[in-house]
Amino acid sequence: MNQAALIVLGVFAATASSFYGILVVPQAQIGRLDQTKIEETGSYYPAVRPGEAQAGAEVYRANGCVECHTQQVKMKGNGTDFERGWGRRRTIAQDYLLDNPVQLGTVRLGPDLANIGSRQTNAVYHLQHLYNARLTMPGSTMPQYPYLFTKRALAAGEKASEGALPSNTEPGFEVVPRPEALALVAYLRSLNSEAPLYSAPFPLVPTNSTAAAAAPSAK
Ligand code: HEC
Repeated sequence: MNQAALIVLGVFAATASSFYGILVVPQAQIGRLDQTKIEETGSYYPAVRPGEAQAGAEVYRANGCVECHTQQVKMKGNGTDFERGWGRRRTIAQDYLLDNPVQLGTVRLGPDLANIGSRQTNAVYHLQHLYNARLTMPGSTMPQYPYLFTKRALAAGEKASEGALPSNTEPGFEVVPRPEALALVAYLRSLNSEAPLYSAPFPLVPTNSTAAAAAPSAK
């Protein structure tokens, strides 16, 4: 019996259903995402990254930071991201709207960086950490990135030039961040998804009165 028509129909059905499931449904769900105006601040989220931070995203990419760091906070109750303080809400597709490429990451040898911009705002801390992570985090296994800095031996009594890292970085030397290091830190400081969104509000934290009402009576 000739079953060619049946085979063609089967192939067509398989192709059409996967086209629908993989392209049409996601497009309908998130294809028209746009920036949202945050009423409290009047600003738009996600914000366009300033040029230096945009350049820093490329330094982040070039140095393979994504190999050890994710930028995605899981929802409360799914893992320990909330307990670790990695974010006040789960991340959603809109958070990555202006990123190209999106540097989600899959491996967490280091902490999640989706909100490092609100967790650590000190630029000098970041620079020292990049130069030698063990200066700021004893025992850290993060690689060092000395080539993002220029190092010069200081003559006896000579002072380090402006913009150099604190003297404990490398005693006897001045360590000055290169533009790549400054851009990378600008990028890290721009990583902040702490805007409450309608589709991803901050989870409710029980206040004393609600916690007391929910807790079983001591008697
Ligand atoms: C081989 C894995 C690895 C790579 C690659 C790596 N890191 Fe890390 N990173 C870690 C580990 C482990 C920690 C935790 C210890 C520490 O704070 O130093 C960390 C911590 C951090 C922190 C502090 C996070 C916090 O919550 O305080 C920042 C910021 C950071 N890394 C940025 C970067 C950047 C930027 C790059 C790329 C230039 C990078 N890391 C590459 C492993 C890595």
